[in-house]
Amino acid sequence: MSSSASSSPQHVAIIMDGNGRWATQKGWPRLVGHRKGAERVKAIVRAAPDLGVKWLTIYAFSTENWKRSTEEVIGLMGLFARYIQREAEDMSREGVRMRFIGDRSRLDPKLQDLMHWIEERTSGNTHVNLTVAINYGGRNELTRAAQVLARRVAEEGLDPATIDDETVSGALDTHDIPDPDLVIRTSGETRVSNFLLWQAAYAEFEFSPVLWPDFTPEVFAEILSRYGVRERRFGGVGT
Ligand code: IPE
Ligand code: IPE
Ligand code: MG
Repeated sequence: MSSSASSSPQHVAIIMDGNGRWATQKGWPRLVGHRKGAERVKAIVRAAPDLGVKWLTIYAFSTENWKRSTEEVIGLMGLFARYIQREAEDMSREGVRMRFIGDRSRLDPKLQDLMHWIEERTSGNTHVNLTVAINYGGRNELTRAAQVLARRVAEEGLDPATIDDETVSGALDTHDIPDPDLVIRTSGETRVSNFLLWQAAYAEFEFSPVLWPDFTPEVFAEILSRYGVRERRFGGVGT
């Protein structure tokens, strides 16, 4: 597999969608779909390095997902906490570095503590980088970055004329993460839903009809093989 690694995207971001529909189709509660979805995350993280993918960013909970029922929101938050606790050992052993992006201030303090704990615990790992977006919205992230920069202008004498792309990138939650090369959305929806609005400026997009709980490493590999034959131009005229 490593022979295809040269044309693999380094960083893949995934909008993992379709958990609710997957469960509903089977007559099960939506949370069963989320639980199955969490298992898929583990399988994809494990498969990524062999497919040449060093960075994975997954959208787990958007700033708009608070609109869902209390039961679903609480269930999802519990799943995030359990995932961190249950996978800590394996991630440490397998060299997974885990990070989070999004506005943490609205999350339960216990979950915030767990997030901080696993980030610290895995901070020396280099095999694969897993970033999970929780209470994440691209607009919210850019708004918070604007606040940080405005404060630096007011309090630290930052010259507004010197603010450039790099300054803005450096003020985002993703300041230590490269931009995604490829964004995948599952479940057949073809919208961006507030994910990585700044960072995905030149990403390729792939939309898969597969519902996230059915998303296997084989499906992932097939999508990546399509990426390998694309020509990225970045505004130029190509070859
Ligand atoms: C994605 O699955 C997971 C989250 C948004 C938390 P959904 O829960 O959106 O599943 P559908 O789109 O309702 O099927
Ligand atoms: C996007 O999925 C958010 C996550 C996958 C966490 P949604 O299901 O919330 O998006 P919409 O509502 O269909 O746009
Ligand atoms: Mg959805």
